[in-house]
Amino acid sequence: MQTITLKNPFDMHLHLREDVILESVLPFSARTFLGGVVMPNLKNPVSTAEDAIQYKNQIQNICPDFYPLMTIYITPTLDENKLKKAKDLGIKILKLYPKGATTNSNNGVDDILDSKMLKLLEIAQDMDFILSIHGESNGFSLDREYEFLSIFEFLAKKYKKLKIVLEHMSDHRSIKVLEDYENLFGTLTLHHITLDLDSLLGKGLSPHYFCKPILKTPKDREKLLELALNAHPKISFGSDSAPHTLENKLKDNAAAGIFSAPYLLESLIELFDKNHALENLQKFISDNAFKNYALDSKDFVEKTLTFYKKPCQIVEKVTTKDGQTIIPMHANKMLSWSL
Ligand code: NCD
Ligand code: ZN
Repeated sequence: MQTITLKNPFDMHLHLREDVILESVLPFSARTFLGGVVMPNLKNPVSTAEDAIQYKNQIQNICPDFYPLMTIYITPTLDENKLKKAKDLGIKILKLYPKGATTNSNNGVDDILDSKMLKLLEIAQDMDFILSIHGESNGFSLDREYEFLSIFEFLAKKYKKLKIVLEHMSDHRSIKVLEDYENLFGTLTLHHITLDLDSLLGKGLSPHYFCKPILKTPKDREKLLELALNAHPKISFGSDSAPHTLENKLKDNAAAGIFSAPYLLESLIELFDKNHALENLQKFISDNAFKNYALDSKDFVEKTLTFYKKPCQIVEKVTTKDGQTIIPMHANKMLSWSL
């Protein structure tokens, strides 16, 4: 039987939520990933080192073998002292949400280019933080990422020593900008490299494929898939798995976010296998992240996984302890690889 062995997979963009949802979704990530970059957009944002350490402890109490790389949400009250504390406690990543751009971003940044923010980013650069950005304007939904690119360019030029990450790239026009600036890096999700707008609304409206940034055109999907299959060295895999309850997915103003965590690696293996690119998968799901985020394998207990070309089925739903339902991406679908 055909097999593939992967070492130390890292999910560089992951929403784990809190309480009963955290308890229900985290084991799916911990099953196959050594660790992940945990997003800070909880109802009360993770905006200080203390919040991050408390959240990290909650995560590790549930899955002690999973390494959460914590992030600090940039809110208006973030300052030099708070950055220093975070740095001292080993936190390396700051997350910038433009105010109102996505789920729980009301505490985000109103004007990225105001003088206070620019000063803060200079300090962040001096302290060697990585700046991860949800790069979307508040314009027309299909152009939001594109319209934000000028801000990436401005920041990349102004802070040449600051590593800046274009999170969940969804628009092929971002690729050139990523390549033009040495200090820009990117993450790619499974959904943006395999799905397009038609998955969301081409037949009927399918809220489980509604996410931000929104799925785009077949051309965007193809160009971004190419980056993944080639394991472009500036790009790491970040699922942006973002669970929401079925109730919140079905209401008016449905919640944005795709819960992809359950079968990410099996799905990626199938995708890379189909495209004759399996030899690049290790880089895409781990090696690039180690380089781009300056991780040191000595800090982790190694995780090695062997997958077999043998079918498995994605679960239909996940039920939380208090009876809420979360539907995973591609619920019930058969996959051709399994652990
Ligand atoms: C994310 C969420 O639900 O927290 N939603 C999403 O559609 N990706 C937030 C985000 O990463 O934008
Ligand atoms: Zn996200």
